[in-house]
Amino acid sequence: MAFSDQFLEELRGRSGLADVVGRRVKLTRKGREHSGLCPFHKEKTPSFTVNEEKGFYHCFGCGEHGSVFDFVMQTEGLTFPEAVEKLAGEAGLEIPQDTPEERERQEQRKTLYDVTEAATRFFQSQLYGTNGKQALDYLKRRGLADETIKRFRLGFAPDGRTVLKEALAREGIDDGRMIATGLIIQPEDNSRNSYDRFRGRVIFPITDTRDRVIAFGGRILGDGEPKYLNSPETSLFHKGHVLYGQKTASGPARKAGLILVTEGYTDVIALHQAGFENAVAPLGTALTEDQMKILWKIVPEPVLCFDGDAAGQKAAARAAVRALPLLASGYGLRFALLPTGEDPDSLIKTGGAEAMSGVINAALPLSEVLWRMETGGRVPKTPEQRAALQKRLKDHALEITDSTLRSHFLALFNDRLWSGAKSRKDANVRGNSRANWQPSMALGEAPGGGLTGGGPTGGGASPDARRLAQQVLLAIIISHPDIFDHVEETLGNFSFAEGGLDQLRQELISVLLNDADLESDGVKDVLAQRGYAESLNVLFRDPMIQANRILRADAPAEKYQTLWDENVALLKTLETAPEVEKIRHAGDDGIAEEDWERQRALLEQAMHGDRN
Ligand code: UTP
Ligand code: MN
Repeated sequence: MAFSDQFLEELRGRSGLADVVGRRVKLTRKGREHSGLCPFHKEKTPSFTVNEEKGFYHCFGCGEHGSVFDFVMQTEGLTFPEAVEKLAGEAGLEIPQDTPEERERQEQRKTLYDVTEAATRFFQSQLYGTNGKQALDYLKRRGLADETIKRFRLGFAPDGRTVLKEALAREGIDDGRMIATGLIIQPEDNSRNSYDRFRGRVIFPITDTRDRVIAFGGRILGDGEPKYLNSPETSLFHKGHVLYGQKTASGPARKAGLILVTEGYTDVIALHQAGFENAVAPLGTALTEDQMKILWKIVPEPVLCFDGDAAGQKAAARAAVRALPLLASGYGLRFALLPTGEDPDSLIKTGGAEAMSGVINAALPLSEVLWRMETGGRVPKTPEQRAALQKRLKDHALEITDSTLRSHFLALFNDRLWSGAKSRKDANVRGNSRANWQPSMALGEAPGGGLTGGGPTGGGASPDARRLAQQVLLAIIISHPDIFDHVEETLGNFSFAEGGLDQLRQELISVLLNDADLESDGVKDVLAQRGYAESLNVLFRDPMIQANRILRADAPAEKYQTLWDENVALLKTLETAPEVEKIRHAGDDGIAEEDWERQRALLEQAMHGDRN
């Protein structure tokens, strides 16, 4: 059975090479590539790499190389059509029937690209002809250089009923295909003549990932309604699956590890001209799920730009809420809020690229946008209001399907919700300002006195929360190596350099990558052979570790999984601590003593596990 190129390409995009390979091979993300142990030959150090961008895997050890289809064929012993069928099933794509009608449709679609291409050229020629003077002046007035205008293939649709229609007819294109691309409109009353959709408008061609024109946006010159007119949905154009500028932006975005999502065509273009070649925009609608998934294939944390006014903040919050169920560990969104009334285009005009960079650098994490949406920046005073707020925040966090991320959000919200008490008590005891807040407070250390006493390995008077959480994570894996499978990526992405435990972390990963079936004693033996006997001793002699039943061999899996999640969340909270502090100072009303005690208990429990 023959599959169309179009279908295979869509399937390739939907399947995601790293996802498919990742089900068989433990992959670690390294910049733009993922690497792991080659499934095609036996090896102990990873020489197998996956490049999602290029759509290929390659082994530097044995030379195996191929696409997502090759991978499924090779690893599952399937024929090409079987592999396609399997991947299509998983991606929820229906395989187009190879019927004469379908072939006809494919043929037709192919020729539709010729129609949009011809129209694009026509619009471009008009912009630089006598008809287009006003439009070209308009674009120049908006600060666009010729080079930019050419790069985005901007054009002009003259103001007449059938200018484009006649021009395309001269190239032998029939009405049917012009209607199918949405370029001309056939009135319902069939006795009336079809006419141009775009009249007297600047034209923004919209392209697909192969740079083929699939649709158009048309802006009125000056004021008037509607400001923008867009192509309707056609067989080439499904606006919810497309991002304006994607083809141009994805290379630079991957390189920079950053993609900007703006609201308008002109923003993408102005950003590009100002040196931000990594910008895209949805097409006049809120960002769809499909579009978010496209963005996440390009970078782990796209930055969405919104006007900083009330409407823009609302739109940002809506996007945040919609993203929650889609979030996975290591993937997120950030939100750049522009000054009120500005979009990237206007901001660059008034403040230059530096102003835009400033806004991007100050982009807020998703959790922060939710927090602001629910609190308006103020933690309420009464327990009732605070409980209601806590519930709303918790409900948001519970929308997250990824358990690691969910506990991170829960911990973060809780910390912020009850943080005012900490700082007030701080102020009472120490008699000075709230600026004294230290990340180590998250451990549950009593302000002004030691709750838990000095850490035996830390040496200092106050235990170091970060180091202890790191120790707990390492001890969990060494005691229960079966958990490694689920947590490898998280462990791989942390650096324990600050607690001085990073060598042990890396060695542990290497040991378990080599032999995933080792039991606890086996892991300890190999680590000891590799010169880590003393590190292990120190780790397991620590009373905090010794006292924790969850680290004993007979602890049930859900317990140590939970302990793992909680400590990961705590570490992440500590990483974001400076930001937490900023918020604390912004909207602090002081919180009752009992609340502080409760919060302390919560965090204590998270650190040490349930001791019952
Ligand atoms: P904006 O009104 O913010 O447009 O709409 P803009 O890009 O800043 O345009 P300029 O600077 O005034 O020229 C944002 C996006 O919403 C869609 C378009 O995709 C536009 O780029 N839109 C807007 C429409 O589809 N129709 C409209 O009437 C207005
Ligand atoms: Mn604008």
